[in-house]
Amino acid sequence: MQLKPLQFGGVEIGLPVVLAPMAGYTDAAMRSLCLERGAGAVYTELTSAEGIRRDSKKTFQVLASGPAEHPIAGHIFGRDPKAMVKAARFIEQTGRFDWIDINCGCPVKKVVSRGAGAALLKELPLMGEIIAKVKSAVSLPVSVKTRIGFNSDTAGPLEIARVVEESGADMVAVHARLARNFHGGDPDWQALGEMKQALNIPLIGNGGVYAPADAQRMVEVAGVDGVMVARGAIGNPWIFEQIKNKFLAEPQSSQSKIVQSQRSLRLCEGYIGIQTRRDMMAEHLRRLVELNEEKQHDSGKPKKYSPEQAACIQFRTHIPYYVKGLFDKKQLLMKLATLMSVEALLEEIDVLMEKNR
Ligand SMILES: Cc1cc2nc3c(=O)[nH]c(=O)nc-3n(C[C@H](O)[C@H](O)[C@H](O)COP(=O)(O)O)c2cc1C
Repeated sequence: MQLKPLQFGGVEIGLPVVLAPMAGYTDAAMRSLCLERGAGAVYTELTSAEGIRRDSKKTFQVLASGPAEHPIAGHIFGRDPKAMVKAARFIEQTGRFDWIDINCGCPVKKVVSRGAGAALLKELPLMGEIIAKVKSAVSLPVSVKTRIGFNSDTAGPLEIARVVEESGADMVAVHARLARNFHGGDPDWQALGEMKQALNIPLIGNGGVYAPADAQRMVEVAGVDGVMVARGAIGNPWIFEQIKNKFLAEPQSSQSKIVQSQRSLRLCEGYIGIQTRRDMMAEHLRRLVELNEEKQHDSGKPKKYSPEQAACIQFRTHIPYYVKGLFDKKQLLMKLATLMSVEALLEEIDVLMEKNR
């Protein structure tokens, strides 16, 4: 089973292996690195429709994106259809986004307690109303990022698929876990396959893709039109070109071979040398500093941390992923958590890498 170029509305994604939205990670720095290494498309971090309605500067900063970042979705959450329409129109008017994505799957308390995100999976008529109203308010394509269900007592995958499609969405990305399970447990790719069979719009599958062999198996099991990678891309922007190469190199795959040698495939396909990782960290940090400089310039207010210090703090959550498997994370994090300059951070990373070469 192969991946083909994907089209919905006016959006075209060459080989549809896309970066998932991840609050706190997928800012313009990470997105641009992933796009340059083969990501077919990206999403902004989760953006509050209410924040846009209130004209919140902080919310607008979440939407910051570079001119080369395409295709990109503006990813919004909320429960009030009017606020969602206003947010979608705002995103369209910026002229910087290729489509609007509606979050119907976030399980975190801050979102669900407001009746938004995954809570909409318990109120499908409201979910449908939001999708339909947003769709008719903008000319950009509209997609939905959702789950296979909230829990086992609420609407199932087929009902969710029907509401998403009948409400007018152009595409759906589905995380193959129940919202109740957050990001844990095995993803249910069979459920993705059932949704795919029931839908006429394209379905991008998400959940549990950490290596090229996982992507290939998801496509084989579920027949999805695209693959979305979240945690597998943190500290690992190379995963997109690796997955693409796998699909380009192996048009005919054998599932049994993949299952048999999955462990060894993960090890050899995913291996990125120490120097390459170090160079990517330096580039990621450089882009974070630049992003913070722009944000602070736009905000016009004095900030507690300089752009460089803010970048060092934000980068801390990425470091353990970049050095995965190289050395003891605790030892590293304790040292790096105090460093507030790019030079000091890279120097310490060099020392640790040298010791472990
Ligand atoms: C730190 C973190 C932040 C996330 N933020 C969002 C978000 O803002 N919007 C969203 O739809 N999903 C969010 N997710 C869920 C991911 O997009 C994805 O659905 C989930 O991690 C499963 O994919 P994976 O198994 O490839 O990690 C987040 C996940 C993580 C780990």
